[in-house]
Amino acid sequence: MTKPASTLPERDARTMSRLQKLRFFPLAVKGGKGSYLHSEDGRRLLDLSASWGAASLGHAHPALRAAVDRALSDQAGASILSAINEPAVSLGERLLEITPGSGDRRVWLGHSGSDANETIARAAVAATGRPRIVSFKGAYHGGTAGSMAISAHSVQEHAAKAEGLVALPYPDPYRPYGDDPSGQAVVRLLEQHFATDCPPEQVAAFFIEPIQSDGGLIVPPPGVMRALCELCAKHGILTVADEVKVGLGRSGAMHCFGHEEIAPDFVTFGKGLGGGLPLSAVVGPAEVLDFAATFSMQTLHGNPVSAAAGHAVLDTIAAEGLAENAGRVGAALQKGLRALADRHALIGDVRGRGLAIGVELVRDRETREPAAKEAAKVVFRAHELGLVVYYVGMNSNVLELTPPLTLTEAEAEEAVAILGEALADVAAGRVPDAAVAPYEGW
Ligand SMILES: Cc1ncc(COP(=O)(O)O)c(C=O)c1O
Repeated sequence: MTKPASTLPERDARTMSRLQKLRFFPLAVKGGKGSYLHSEDGRRLLDLSASWGAASLGHAHPALRAAVDRALSDQAGASILSAINEPAVSLGERLLEITPGSGDRRVWLGHSGSDANETIARAAVAATGRPRIVSFKGAYHGGTAGSMAISAHSVQEHAAKAEGLVALPYPDPYRPYGDDPSGQAVVRLLEQHFATDCPPEQVAAFFIEPIQSDGGLIVPPPGVMRALCELCAKHGILTVADEVKVGLGRSGAMHCFGHEEIAPDFVTFGKGLGGGLPLSAVVGPAEVLDFAATFSMQTLHGNPVSAAAGHAVLDTIAAEGLAENAGRVGAALQKGLRALADRHALIGDVRGRGLAIGVELVRDRETREPAAKEAAKVVFRAHELGLVVYYVGMNSNVLELTPPLTLTEAEAEEAVAILGEALADVAAGRVPDAAVAPYEGW
């Protein structure tokens, strides 16, 4: 008797480490085009995650394919550490052009949001001689030791924190710190830290996410980020805006921090910058980014093929008006989701900017009890019905929508219809606990 061939999920279970698995349902991807993924079992799924926002141009975009093909057909090495290559330098020039800021600035190129945030955290501390960092509870700045050290997400409770790290509550209008939806209580808390246990002259940098993504896709109330950044600037503390997930068009503007009317000292980019290829960047003052040589380098940093992908992404965002598209289609998507909220009591809140949208699920709209099990079931059922969407949040109850920036209104409508069906099925008890039990999520 011949042994039946293994499926991809079976081979994955036998072969690939659980250390890097964050699974919600049994999706095995064979390919993809535009906003759709093709699964091993022959289905076509609408991708509302875009691999956590990385596939910013959707899948197999012709501009990205052409750029990568060109870069590989006459390959300018693989690294910028010991030899200069044109695609990396011109990408740096372009990032300086599109990122607001003044004075002498530099660009550092890496290959993940984690390495970008780790680099600027280490460099800010080393260059200023100030040992401490301020960030937010729920922040996910990366999965390397140095980026986890300045993060405060529940999934990383095992990780060592930077000495003296202060993690402020994120200004969350739906679950407000100190019962103050305006967020001003967070500003007062930072003032209090500065006056007591965290003298500001000890703080090198303040890390913000203009929308807190993995902590629950939270949009801060107006003016709060600005007030916090101003308070830090008053004490010579450098602001770092982590735009890794929500930057470069996703929010409906080129930079998500633009909505907050702040001027961060440093900006970190990742995910969508490479359109699905490994690429990240830090942009900011030369004083810090030039303070030492050989301080933060990995062999493939400044890789010309990744840099070429970055060029294709920036070209396409401009040529196809993708920031505007994210704003327009995102508004239609939010409208559709709010209409769903009228019919589905599980939806407690719909929020976001452009194509960075969160749908918070609750068991009771009065008490706002997080509906974590239900969120796991909704994403599971949505996958069965042809939609890829994951959940995030410190309470594991926020559906996160970060689709390709190329998403169309028709695709947004399709997504809303599928989500509506998934919500109805979960509310009616048609998704058993046993179905989601094998998927650990987070
Ligand atoms: C806001 C933010 N910063 C940094 C990172 C880390 O990026 P990467 O996983 O590409 O290293 C993430 C990843 O989810 C993120 O959402």
